[in-house]
Amino acid sequence: MSAYQIEKFAVIGAGNMGSGIAQKIAAEGHPVVLVDLDDAKVERGLGIIRDTLQKGVERGIFKPAKVEKILGKLRGTSDWTELADVDLVVEAVFEDLEVKRSVFKRLGEVCKPTAILGTNTSSFYVKDVAAVTPNPERVVGLHYFYHPAMNRLVEVISHAGTDPAAFQAAWAAQEAIGKTPIRSADAPGFVVNRYFVPWINESVRLLDEGVADIATIEWAAKKAFGVGMGPFELMNVTGVPISMHAANTLGHELHGFYAPARGLCAQVERGGDWDFSGEPDESRYDDVADRLLGVVFYVACQLVEEGVGTVEDTDIGALVGLRWPRGPFHLLNRVGVERAQLLAEAAVSPHGLELPTLLKDANPAGIPVQLVSVEKRGEHSHLLLNRPAALNALNQKAGMQFISAMHLAREHDTGGIIISSTGKAFVAGADVKFFVDNLKRDTFGPIYDFAAAGQQIYRLLNGGHKPVVARVQGLALGGGAELALACDWVIASPKAAFGFPETGIGIYPGLGGTQRLARRVGLPLAKWLVYTGEMVDARTATAIGLCDDAVSFAELDARCEAAIAQGVVRGRTAPATAPSADWQPLWDFFSAHTVDQILSGAADTQGDPRLERAAKKMGQKSAHALLQVEKVFAEGEQLELSAALDFELEGLKEVFLHPDALEGMSALLENRRPAFGKATV
Ligand SMILES: NC(=O)c1ccc[n+]([C@@H]2O[C@H](COP(=O)([O-])OP(=O)(O)OC[C@H]3O[C@@H](n4cnc5c(N)ncnc54)[C@H](O)[C@@H]3O)[C@@H](O)[C@H]2O)c1
Repeated sequence: MSAYQIEKFAVIGAGNMGSGIAQKIAAEGHPVVLVDLDDAKVERGLGIIRDTLQKGVERGIFKPAKVEKILGKLRGTSDWTELADVDLVVEAVFEDLEVKRSVFKRLGEVCKPTAILGTNTSSFYVKDVAAVTPNPERVVGLHYFYHPAMNRLVEVISHAGTDPAAFQAAWAAQEAIGKTPIRSADAPGFVVNRYFVPWINESVRLLDEGVADIATIEWAAKKAFGVGMGPFELMNVTGVPISMHAANTLGHELHGFYAPARGLCAQVERGGDWDFSGEPDESRYDDVADRLLGVVFYVACQLVEEGVGTVEDTDIGALVGLRWPRGPFHLLNRVGVERAQLLAEAAVSPHGLELPTLLKDANPAGIPVQLVSVEKRGEHSHLLLNRPAALNALNQKAGMQFISAMHLAREHDTGGIIISSTGKAFVAGADVKFFVDNLKRDTFGPIYDFAAAGQQIYRLLNGGHKPVVARVQGLALGGGAELALACDWVIASPKAAFGFPETGIGIYPGLGGTQRLARRVGLPLAKWLVYTGEMVDARTATAIGLCDDAVSFAELDARCEAAIAQGVVRGRTAPATAPSADWQPLWDFFSAHTVDQILSGAADTQGDPRLERAAKKMGQKSAHALLQVEKVFAEGEQLELSAALDFELEGLKEVFLHPDALEGMSALLENRRPAFGKATV
């Protein structure tokens, strides 16, 4: 068990960031105490939170009862002795090193030795803040993004002396509060600001050089990066001086290239906002876009080369933190390596900078962005799915990379493999658009090949010579739930939820879901889950045997490692009875009745609300899909797992080529209710 068990949180500094961070922690159900210099400042911070929540109620985002619940988790104080029992502290006071150091000195005195101390600094080294505490090994950087109650990204930073266990605990705590963490070294600008600030700064430099006017630069930047707000509007929103200070820090620590543009300093001196009104001069597009792309390509490659962050985290930071539709490396590969080299060279050579080797020697085919990456972590291999902005949905490319990652992980000299992912979802389904595009073209072949390949990958997972554990931190839907089921062990966090929504979009689970699920929870409950699409949380999933254990985020990694020690599972025998008396009515109902009986109302629900709900939900699904999957369940029960999986796969053609499949999946993409056809039995 980790020495760092995180349940109670504190936030120091009840300003813009601190109040938002505290709000998010409370909204995720964790107790948090908000601290500031005096009671009036604490009250002002709490007031910001109340106002934000009230606006949320007015806009229909929160119900009043939820607001009460959030406020119930939140406490404000200016009495630091109340920090004695907190497990994780986030410091978000003024960006002033001496103020931060005085806060950390005090935290070192009042907090227990196992409390993790995190700083939200944007511009100082974490090591410089940590140095004043008696236990610098438990200090990390936790760099959140505005608005921290809404923006999911957090950079988790270790300095040279951070205890890996403290880092891991801080990371898991970010997952527990609904954040999407990425790793950063203790380096100026960390990962995201390292390229975001130069992107802004270069826009002003283009203005200084007379390449284009503000309206044109703003327009071209938005178009080239596919973003809703250009650099000048962003500066206005955050306050122009912040950009200048950020560029100053980078320029001071790294190179004159990063130093603030003349026009930026002049604007700060003048005060006020940028005026970006006017019509863009479209003939200047290339000059502006090429320069901004060149700068971002240079900095992104440079930061990876320096080991500040990975290619994947650089892109995740842009997608999740900045809401760019494509990250720097995705953009670079789209532009093409050779052109990216030219653009970067043109942008930075006037500053006396050379291209980093990563870009200079890049394969012309592209710089790989791993949707699935793998690394050795102590005694196990860690396989990580890297598409949080797409809820880690499975597509062909991710599937191919998954296979390579599994092969690599198997070759490691480790005791087992943990499959994990970042963000809200473990894996939320498959690429539905790919299915729809093929069905519209009347082609089933690529869909079959995708499912067959998927089944093949999943068959590799369990019963091998190394145990494979699914670390399910979030939603596991459709193909994601099937991925978890294919592992030897499934360990769930409190945020995990499992569901099989396929029959609601006209198909059935085709990656082993019907067969492995039945062998874990028993045929009647497998039918209940697949027929109704009902989602179950981690506790319920554990109660019915869908997963092996549900633990807190603080215990998740240790529990996954313990599962590895439990070894490989070879074959599962489906339970013959309901897991408990509570489940008996559902068990009996789905044992006794056919799909046809339930849909026609011939199955007696005896006024039991759970059975009525199940029958009602089935009425909203594709009857054709329900009847097909009923056949798969019936046949699969008679077969060995491998043959049952073949049967499930072969049945997909009939279900995909029925009009309900195209209708159901199109409705999902169009965000409307599907209109399924009547069943023919
Ligand atoms: N604003 C952003 O977009 C952003 C984004 C990422 C990180 N940050 C970082 O977050 C931190 C806070 O930024 P902010 O914008 O919330 O600032 P802010 O000025 O809104 O709030 C700072 C708060 O800290 C309090 N404070 C000051 N000294 C204190 C002390 N000794 N003890 C307790 N409280 C103290 C102040 O009273 C104030 O309420 C800074 O380090 C900043 O660089 C800001």
